[in-house]
Amino acid sequence: MCGIIGYVGGRACRELIVQGLERLEYRGYDSAGFALLDGSDDGFAMVRAVGNLAKLREASADMNGATGATTGLGHTRWATHGRVTEANCHPHLSGDGKVAVVMNGIIENYVELRHQLQESGVVFHSETDTEVLPHLIAQHYRGDLLAAVQEIIPKLSGHYAFVALHADEPGRLVGTRHECPLVIGEGDGERFFASAIPAFLRETRDVVLINDSEIVVIEPDRTTILNAKGEQLERHAERVDMDEDAAEKGGYETFMLKEIHEQPAALWDTIGDRIRPDGTVHLEGFGLEDAALARVERVHIVACGTSYHAGLVGRYLIEDWARVPVHCEVASEYRYRTCLAGPGDLVIGITQSGETADTLAAMRVARERGAHVIALTNIMGSQATRDADGVLYTRAGLEIGVAATKSHTAQIMALALLAVKLGRLKWALTQPGAIDLAEELRRLPEGIERYLESDAPTHVREVAEKYADRPFFLYLGRHVGVPVCFEGALKLKEISYIPTEAYPAGEMKHGPIALLDEGSPVVVVATDGHVFDKVVSNIQEVRARGARVIAVATEGNQEIGAHVDDVLWAPKTPALLSPVTALVPLQLFAYEIASIRGLNVDQPRNLAKTVTVE
Ligand code: AGP
Repeated sequence: MCGIIGYVGGRACRELIVQGLERLEYRGYDSAGFALLDGSDDGFAMVRAVGNLAKLREASADMNGATGATTGLGHTRWATHGRVTEANCHPHLSGDGKVAVVMNGIIENYVELRHQLQESGVVFHSETDTEVLPHLIAQHYRGDLLAAVQEIIPKLSGHYAFVALHADEPGRLVGTRHECPLVIGEGDGERFFASAIPAFLRETRDVVLINDSEIVVIEPDRTTILNAKGEQLERHAERVDMDEDAAEKGGYETFMLKEIHEQPAALWDTIGDRIRPDGTVHLEGFGLEDAALARVERVHIVACGTSYHAGLVGRYLIEDWARVPVHCEVASEYRYRTCLAGPGDLVIGITQSGETADTLAAMRVARERGAHVIALTNIMGSQATRDADGVLYTRAGLEIGVAATKSHTAQIMALALLAVKLGRLKWALTQPGAIDLAEELRRLPEGIERYLESDAPTHVREVAEKYADRPFFLYLGRHVGVPVCFEGALKLKEISYIPTEAYPAGEMKHGPIALLDEGSPVVVVATDGHVFDKVVSNIQEVRARGARVIAVATEGNQEIGAHVDDVLWAPKTPALLSPVTALVPLQLFAYEIASIRGLNVDQPRNLAKTVTVE
């Protein structure tokens, strides 16, 4: 959503803060800013700029003041309240210019607080909810920033993480979190606050995780953590082994392309040693004994966006291999419906970031009703892992591109492992069947690696060049190809901004076929399987209306070429696993079209990598 960073220590911190923001830019990049304190009587040196961080660097290039500052705050914004303007950039200051605050999330009662502050004479300079914080802190400040923050927290409702700095207290930052991420990095004689570990990973790997409602004071040699009652808590730093290079592009033009090519490794790592040659599956951290898992009669899956599409694939896998009914729903709807989950049910929250507000809320609703809730996530220590009874990690590594790719196919892999495990526990899957599936799962990374190293990606670009100027695309699929066409359409729309529709192919004649005109491009997921002939019929229906058909088909299929204009081949795999292989050409197809259009595929407009607000 937004990126926060704070620094106290012995080093000049301006560049540390800007570099940290650059590593958080995937969280939001409408605008950015920082405030520095060098202990002089000049107060804050603050720079804010609309646009990405290159604009902030430009705006601060001739900055003279506070170049030696060793205390500072920085923020990169994804607008929630208030337009994308410089006045709405963080940090926000109190009226006396003494308090600076950066925030991620939403203060839901900010209107009421704003009115109260205005009635007491406060003048606001922005449209944001965040600006109530520095004014409130200033009103409660009597020489101790920590005390002032402690006093205002009970007045706030919403989900947020913020860090505050007072001009009279250089070398000291105070931060807190409530349902939004905030972590502490501990270096030698220096400390960091950040929304995510990559912001300071180059400087330290010693990370302190904090929980909701805890308040933290960082000073160069000290981290003080207090609970809501003001009691001091002992918390030791954990050493993280996150691969720093993962946050670089590794020679690829963009993070997204790098991450598409990292899918074989992501799949292989997600399998790890979890499935044994005898077909048994071991899911560390799942938090549910096999005997209890064997008694599960219902599975609910809640997620958003691409993660929801993984859940739709998981539904086919679990229902087919374990014969357990699966209800899969977008979290933003699930959280407000009458929740029928209960004790004995398994609820899986799928969330790459582990911080998506709607998914966290849906998981909480299910957990309150007694279900066993699992976080299927890519980020260790994320909020979802703390809210759940157990975890099922994808091991896709850091994913910087806003458009999810490797984390998505890794989610499907994790769900496949769970489906095999559940199938064996339910006696719905024989051991030979499980052994065969284990072998097929292991073949997936190899097949995709071979595909990516072949001339297939070049062919995808050639096909993309034929259609890159089209104003609309219809995506169709059947059975397990439906979530694939949903995801393929989402990839194209979110990085190329081209309007797309994605529909079950059987539904197309109940309305969407009216959208087709001479030359309309229709992407059809036509991988091998029991519905292939039905898909071919739908292809003939759309071609009869003048559409141009691009099929995603299984390598070696001899029939499809006669029915379509272009084919994007996918590595051969059993039908139920075909989403994992069919998605790769669709990811590349979207990537190539967006690239041909000259768009920023890593940071698409209006989007953010993590949506920590409703
Ligand atoms: C994926 O390409 C999108 N950026 C978006 O739909 C994303 O999948 C969604 O916001 C959910 O994020 P999460 O997996 O971190 O919960």
